[in-house]
Amino acid sequence: MNDNVLKRAAGKAARVKNRLTTEPIDPEELKAARQRNHKLRTKVDELKAANAELKEELVRTRATLRDPEPDLALDPRVEQVIHAVREEHLSYLKVASLQMLARQVVAADRDGRKGLIIEAGTALGGSAIAMAAAKDPSRPMKVYDVFGMIPEPSEKDGVDIQARYEKIKAGESKGLEGETYYGYRDDLYGEVTASFARHGVEVGANNVDLVQGLFQDTIDLGDEPVAFAHLDGDWYDSTMVCLERIAPLVVPGGRIVLDDYYYWSGCRQATDEYFAGRKDFRIERRTKLHAVRL
Ligand SMILES: C[S@@+](CC[C@H](N)C(=O)[O-])C[C@H]1O[C@@H](n2cnc3c(N)ncnc32)[C@H](O)[C@@H]1O
Repeated sequence: MNDNVLKRAAGKAARVKNRLTTEPIDPEELKAARQRNHKLRTKVDELKAANAELKEELVRTRATLRDPEPDLALDPRVEQVIHAVREEHLSYLKVASLQMLARQVVAADRDGRKGLIIEAGTALGGSAIAMAAAKDPSRPMKVYDVFGMIPEPSEKDGVDIQARYEKIKAGESKGLEGETYYGYRDDLYGEVTASFARHGVEVGANNVDLVQGLFQDTIDLGDEPVAFAHLDGDWYDSTMVCLERIAPLVVPGGRIVLDDYYYWSGCRQATDEYFAGRKDFRIERRTKLHAVRL
């Protein structure tokens, strides 16, 4: 603060002091001033309360944008598994997204929705393990992945994906935290099977089927109902084949979460094409894209 400001403030303070000590205070004026002051304080308190309410509302809105079930408490064991798979670098998803997936699995039980839990695109298994930990062990779960090199994209995938694939093909892709990229591992299927067991959801005991191969060759569900599906296959063809074979089987109230809709052009294109004009699904644009069966 410069000297002039200080001098002006000191001058003003002196004038007020002088007025208070030399001029008699009119009791009516004092009363009116006190009333004005009281009104202002009341107004400030009201505004503070309204502001606190708006802040709370904002926090809740943010939470529901991320997760349709933000208040559904997860079992502490499931929370612990979610943090453990993140610590072991078994998932590319953030904790909040893993919690959202786990809550959808719990919601299927709570709402009595029948059918399979599915993940298509599992890589190191992190998100599938979180979902498996949340599920009733008797409910069947199918986990689809090539468990090896991701297939080549098609001409329907944009330049983002072509560039990404060139890097993977050239052997230049890095895994999480600099570890070996999952597509270059010798026995990813074995690793994922072991990770399920290590995190307390051994596949056999928990009705989880790890299905190795291309989605195009492996996803064949007949008319088996699906309660919830997490699609995380990145490319156009991978996403489209999953939607064509899984979406018609989703039971009313069930949903499909598309992990890469906002990230990879191919996933976005396939999703937009598949759902265009469809009246049997509601699209919810949350942190991830959700398609809810009506
Ligand atoms: C982004 S990763 C999955 C990440 C995982 N959900 C997580 O928690 O981090 C995508 C996986 O889908 C697999 N994938 C993509 N297209 C596929 C296809 N057509 N058939 C089988 N697997 C496919 C890839 O090989 C890779 O393992």
